[in-house]
Amino acid sequence: MFSNTTFRTASRLSSRQVSPLLKSTSVRATSSSFPAQTRSAGTTSENVTQDQAHSILAAQRKLRPISPHLSIYQPQLTWYLSILNRITGVALSGGIYVFALAYLAAPTFGLHLESATIAAAFGSLPVAAKVGIKAAVALPFTFHSWNGIRHLLWDTGKALDIKGVYRTGYVVLGLTTLSTVYLAFM
Ligand code: HEM
Repeated sequence: MFSNTTFRTASRLSSRQVSPLLKSTSVRATSSSFPAQTRSAGTTSENVTQDQAHSILAAQRKLRPISPHLSIYQPQLTWYLSILNRITGVALSGGIYVFALAYLAAPTFGLHLESATIAAAFGSLPVAAKVGIKAAVALPFTFHSWNGIRHLLWDTGKALDIKGVYRTGYVVLGLTTLSTVYLAFM
């Protein structure tokens, strides 16, 4: 996306003769309504069309430094659990929305999503599938719930130092494992 100023600068570059004094390193663009500014145009300066000006700008932008992304951060319990809380919260919400909409639409399409039908269908699955499905639902739910309690504890101002954040993090992981296994096999 090019700003208006960029377009105006590009137009000026394409329409006016550039002073030989400035030809070696840069283009000096001035106008009565804009403050004087100097734009680097690569190693040489010359009259360019608007398309060429765009290409020069695009090439310059590729050379600019970019913000660091996730890959520069050392994996740590703190931000891993934080992003997991968001992922599980969104997954749980998504699941509820999808099921609620499917439940509403079911009669229109002749589907049976009432509890008794789902329970009967689930009961007919092999044991491994039952355990797997229950674990897949229990894991995000229990993690998000335990970690939610951790968040609420923080909201009271407790366990906010590094030691507390790590200790409660490991407690959440332990409780999540225990409760997931329990729910998956009950
Ligand atoms: C099916 C049940 C649940 C759903 C669908 C759900 C959904 C969500 C969602 C979408 C978020 C926002 C995540 C984000 O953008 O970072 C969230 C945050 C949160 N949830 Fe849940 N949640 C559920 C259960 C729970 C339970 C049981 C607790 C507490 C025991 C809890 C405590 C919290 C807290 C404290 C936050 C805010 C965390 C923060 O400050 O960033 N949630 N939840």
